[in-house]
Formats: sequence, structure tokens, C-alpha cells
Amino acid sequence: MEDKRQRETVYAAVCADCLTKKNESLALAGKLLREGGTVIFPTETVYGLGANALDPDAAARIYAAKGRPADNPLIVHIAEPEEADTLCDCPPLYARLARAFMPGPLTVIMTAKPCVPKTVTAGLPTVAVRCPAHPVAHALLLEAGVPVAAPSANLSGSPSPTCFLHVKEDMDGRVDMIIDGGECDYGVESTIVKLEEDGTLLLLRPGAVTLEDLTAFGARVTVAPAVLGALKEGETVLSPGMKYRHYAPEAPLYLLDGSFENIRKFLADREGRVAYLAYDEEMASIALPHVTLYSLGEMADTPSQAKSLFRILREADKENYDAIYAPLPSIRGLGMALYNRMIRAAAHQIIKL
Ligand code: TXA
Ligand code: MG
Repeated sequence: MEDKRQRETVYAAVCADCLTKKNESLALAGKLLREGGTVIFPTETVYGLGANALDPDAAARIYAAKGRPADNPLIVHIAEPEEADTLCDCPPLYARLARAFMPGPLTVIMTAKPCVPKTVTAGLPTVAVRCPAHPVAHALLLEAGVPVAAPSANLSGSPSPTCFLHVKEDMDGRVDMIIDGGECDYGVESTIVKLEEDGTLLLLRPGAVTLEDLTAFGARVTVAPAVLGALKEGETVLSPGMKYRHYAPEAPLYLLDGSFENIRKFLADREGRVAYLAYDEEMASIALPHVTLYSLGEMADTPSQAKSLFRILREADKENYDAIYAPLPSIRGLGMALYNRMIRAAAHQIIKL
């Protein structure tokens, strides 16, 4: 097998409690970023693979480390919401959104200023900015003193990493430094909205800032068709990342749309070794020898489902199942983020029962 290691990776654990005094690991990470290196860091959503967003060569190293297609742009992380002004033209709606949701799991796409390299925008006229709430991410951005471009810190095509172990699995030897900050709070990537010229928001990726949150805030929001459905042939891709099959386990994943009783019967009839991502309330009633169960959390507990989804997909992927099944989530609240990640991991294979 080809050796993935390309360099020595420096490891450091930084917890939020160690941030009261100057932290040597973060000082080193900040220096590496300023000098064009790559540093993986925790955020409240998923881990990010960062590099100086104003240095085209540094940003290019991100694509090399992830094996990411060059036409998929990066999110630029900033320490304070006001810094967006240096990167893009910010309409008044941005300041209002920032007051309501930043720092936090919201990414906003606006028209880029010329200082943003094409390696970051993938040649688009726009740039995505996000101000993360994770204390370690915030401290790192202050240390670095430069905006940090960072996609999720997984190899292209595998689930976003939500803990240090998953980062190490994918990225050991591919980046200059990895900061372990424990498990990510949300476990799904940030909500992405594009600010349109008519003052509306186009929701490109649902996350922990929900459609309901944005509507309650007073925004007029359109949900991009690819969020809940498959892209049709010839349809324009509004966010390049939407066209790639993401988070895809090796075994085929199917989403089951039906009553629990029908799902149980369906699973009982399967042949081979299969896995089912079950709600806790269902676990006891699906005791089938050929079905391995993975707990998604309680049915009503979408935060815990979001937090475990990528971990479960990684774990299940190692077991070479013939197929993996999961219940089709509802699209209410945080459920929309789960639905969006799951239909893409399942390549839109939904079985009506
Ligand atoms: O929570 C998150 O957003 C994490 C953490 C690390 O901040 N980052 C993340 O980045 O998920 P990434 O690269 O895995 O996903 C960013 C998505 C991609 O689908 C990309 O195509 C889209 O954002 N994107 C970035 N810039 C864009 C732009 N200017 N226009 C449209 N889509 C854009
Ligand atoms: Mg990603």
C-alpha cells in the first residue's frame, strides 16, 4: 500500500481550560500557520484542516493533504465577525446575522475582495466566512493573526472527523500539526447561507443554525434544491461541494422510510451481514442475529444523533457489511442537517416501506 505519510506531524492536546495563560502549543500552531504550514484544529462543528487564507501556496497544501478536487472552495475562519470586512463586501444583513449567530456554526457566503486567493475561492467571485465558537479555535485564530482557510479535516470522501482519533486516522503524516481538543459539540458541519443581492438567504447546507432559527431571526430563506434532493442532470451547482458524493461508506447505505414495524420486518428478511442505525427506543425490539445495531440516540434527541452520525459511519465502514440501513430522519430543526448528510451518504437511495 502506498505510504500516505509525507511529513512528521506534531501532536498537541489543548483543552479550553488551558487557555487562561499563554499556550505554547497554540503559539507554535500560530507560527506554523503564519509561515504557510497546515494545522488541524477542533471547532464546535467538526475538526478543520487550516492554512493561511491569504497565502495561495498555503491554501494549496490543504487540497494536497485532503486529496480534495481543486474546484471545491474553502471556508475562511476568522477570530471576530468584523474581520469579514477585510475579505468580502459585507451588506448590513451580515452584521445582523453576525449579532444573532456568531461566533457559532454559521458560514456566510458573500462577494470576495481581491485579496482572497483563487486557491481559496476555487475561482468563484464569492468567499465563505465563518467565526467559530470553539474556544481553542478562537484562541488559535488570535495566535495566528491571519484568517485561516479550513475544510473539514477528513480525507476527501470520508466522513468529517468529530474527534482526534478520526483526524489521526485520516491525516497522520499529511499535515504539520494536529491539535486534539476533544469531541466536537455538534458533530455536523456549519450551516452555509449565501447572501443574495435581493436581501434573501440561500440555504446551501443545513447545520446547527436551523432553517427555523433563520426564519425566526426574520430572514427570508430559500432552501437550495440540492439540500433535500438529488441534483438533476444539467442542474447548476450552487455550492461545488454538493456535487461530490460525500461521507460515503464502502457498504451501500439505504434509508428506510416507513413505520418501525415495517422496518423490523424488512430487516428480518435481509440476507448477509447488515447494520442498522437504530433509535434507542427501537434497539430492544430488533434482536436479529444477522443485524448489528448502532445507537443513534433517542428518537427526539437530534443533537445526539447529529453528534454520533459520522462516528457511526466510520465505525460501520470498518466491518465490511453487505449493507447498512438507517431510518429516514425528519427534516424539522436539526433533523434537516441529518437528512442532508444521510441522503448524500446513501447516494439518495431511499426505500419506501
Ligand atoms: O463546520 C464547518 O463548516 C467545517 C469547519 C472546519 O469549519 N468546515 C467545512 O468545510 O465543513 P468543507 O470545506 O468541508 O465544506 C465547505 C463547503 C463545501 O461544500 C464548499 O463547496 C462550500 O462550503 N463552499 C465554500 N465556499 C463556497 C462559495 N464561495 N460558494 C459556494 N459554496 C462554497
Ligand atoms: Mg468537508
